[in-house]
Amino acid sequence: MSSLSRRQWLQSGALATLALPFGAWTPNRPRPLAPFEPEAAEPIRLNANENPYGPSEKAKLAIVEALSRGNRYQHALRDRLKQAIAEREGLGSENVLLGAGSLEILYHLGTHLGRQKAQILSADLTYRALPRYVEHLGGTWQKVVLDGDQRFDLEGMERALRDPVDLVYLVNPNNPTGTTLPTDQLRDFCKKQSPRQHLLIDEAYIEYLPNGTQQSMARLVRDHPQLMVSRTFSKFYGLAGMRIGYLLAHASTIEVLRRYSTYELSVSASSLAAALASLEDTNFQDLTRTQTAAANAQFCAQLRKWGIPHTPSQTSFVLFAVDPFIQGGADLGDAFEAAGIVCRPFPRDQPQWCRMTMGREEEMAAVVEVLRGLRGGR
Ligand SMILES: Cc1ncc(COP(=O)(O)O)c(C=O)c1O
Repeated sequence: MSSLSRRQWLQSGALATLALPFGAWTPNRPRPLAPFEPEAAEPIRLNANENPYGPSEKAKLAIVEALSRGNRYQHALRDRLKQAIAEREGLGSENVLLGAGSLEILYHLGTHLGRQKAQILSADLTYRALPRYVEHLGGTWQKVVLDGDQRFDLEGMERALRDPVDLVYLVNPNNPTGTTLPTDQLRDFCKKQSPRQHLLIDEAYIEYLPNGTQQSMARLVRDHPQLMVSRTFSKFYGLAGMRIGYLLAHASTIEVLRRYSTYELSVSASSLAAALASLEDTNFQDLTRTQTAAANAQFCAQLRKWGIPHTPSQTSFVLFAVDPFIQGGADLGDAFEAAGIVCRPFPRDQPQWCRMTMGREEEMAAVVEVLRGLRGGR
């Protein structure tokens, strides 16, 4: 199948942006909320890369304040958030598309590609929502397996790209491995490949890196019309349940994908307000980055001490080998379940690896206790 032409990509009429006049949004400061106390019976959820420290205090206050605006559509607040996101990346708000989580945007893109029976190339293992959706709608998904160190095989990808492909999807840092491509290497790949086909770099976990979004590909968007970058407020900003994410792309691409969206109004007033406040809450960002990095370092040190293979992750989760823990016929999932801990096996049907989200200190201590128990207390 041939690549989608730029004409096909841009096909269909332009939609006028709704820009209703609306009062400026001025957050006032309601009383702080009592901290959320999970019920004792709730499991320790370390299976979905949620941020155990979120939402930030500033985000919670903004959510409360936004409730009284719940009777109005939030065009002004939406535009304010888009402007704030764009400014951080040296882009314009015409380069930003908001969604109810980045998943919603991946689905808009998947719909666009799938209905044209497009070819998508990704690594394997990686986050599968987009390629699976494209496949579901009749497109094709080509996979390039990770190298022996569970890292992206960019050379293998370049070889695969000798055949026509419509979109390359790269998750960096990758989920579930947590591995990160060196910035220069990824930048060179994007510059070389983006004139040939579309590229989406999914940066759902980029803010966890020590120098955060400095490693992002977003700056390339302005000069590389076929390059897209997706991000989310679900992970680092601790807003998974609020459902808000965004895409950075050339204005023409945003215009196409916006036709699949409901004027970006799938994002509620409280989610917009929470996102805006979270961008400004640098105390919370520092807390998340340092606590997560500390949990990661301690957990990996323990795995190293036990000689357990695991991937070098700088993010909020670690992928480790399961076999050494189940040699006596034990079941890792059962052992965690008995301790009230939920983790994520990979692949789902025949666990060889377990992806563990980095929880709070006491949660990680409970994880290590279970693993120690499986090793006979050593
Ligand atoms: C790599 C990656 N991309 C996108 C998403 C979707 O996240 P959300 O829809 O919450 O923004 C996830 C969620 O786990 C993810 O891991």
